[in-house]
Amino acid sequence: MMLMAGLLVTACASKPKAEQTEEPAKKVLVLYYSVTNTTKQMAEYIQQKTGADIEAIQTVDAYPTDYNELIKRSSAEREGNVLPELKPFAHNVADYDVIFFGYPLWFATYAQPLKTVIASGVLNGKTVVPFCTSGSSGIKQSVNDLKNALPTAQIPECVGVRSSLMDKMPAAVDRVLINLGLMEGKNEVLADYSAQQAPTADETAIFDAAISTYSMMNGTKAVSVGSRTTSKGTDYKFVGEANGAKMDVYITKENGDAAPYFTAVDR
Ligand SMILES: Cc1cc2nc3c(=O)[nH]c(=O)nc-3n(C[C@H](O)[C@H](O)[C@H](O)COP(=O)(O)O)c2cc1C
Repeated sequence: MMLMAGLLVTACASKPKAEQTEEPAKKVLVLYYSVTNTTKQMAEYIQQKTGADIEAIQTVDAYPTDYNELIKRSSAEREGNVLPELKPFAHNVADYDVIFFGYPLWFATYAQPLKTVIASGVLNGKTVVPFCTSGSSGIKQSVNDLKNALPTAQIPECVGVRSSLMDKMPAAVDRVLINLGLMEGKNEVLADYSAQQAPTADETAIFDAAISTYSMMNGTKAVSVGSRTTSKGTDYKFVGEANGAKMDVYITKENGDAAPYFTAVDR
């Protein structure tokens, strides 16, 4: 589908009117991989909001949906640097200017089948907008990996959502689409986090409550914290520590009685 998009169409606002030319509309494709359909929900939401074309990446040999089996195969492929063979795409990726590229995080980076797409070269020189779902990890490392793997692509702001927070996915996606000029609307300007300092007892309680919902965070301690006030409540950026390893843990406490929740852990 052809899209007219603020950021994606150069409006030439500073040129005299006679010289103003609108660039051709950009073609946008949502290309995603998903085993248990979480990333699929996000892909379909992006497709609905943008009217873009959409395609699911499919491997010739489908991955098992059983978690342990999936871990076993994907670990072996990761260690052996195996690129799984893909079924041919229905869409010709070369025809598109902007590719929303969606994936579940596997071992903190994009899932193995995405590596096959990258290696094929079809994303070279494109605008690639990553999006992902995960258990707890933030999107950051996968975006760094993507930038290294696709040095000729433009990779603008992106978004990751935890699978247990899919009710918050539409708002997170809308924010990115507005920033990209793909959706009407105005985003709240968010302040920087305040400087990191030792957490108060209340902040430590917020940290402990937020991570208590996720067993893999057991034993993680809050070391320091910065915060910012938003229209919804307070966002915290904690530095946490477990087994000598430090990580950034992003937590939101909305106004009212709702429990705090963590949105991402960047290790
Ligand atoms: C092989 C494998 C590795 C995973 N690695 C991570 C990880 O490093 N960090 C994380 O937060 N979640 C991890 N997860 C959880 C998935 O990212 C999460 O469940 C995702 O939402 C699944 O997306 P899907 O339903 O679209 O397949 C992993 C899951 C699998 C199966």
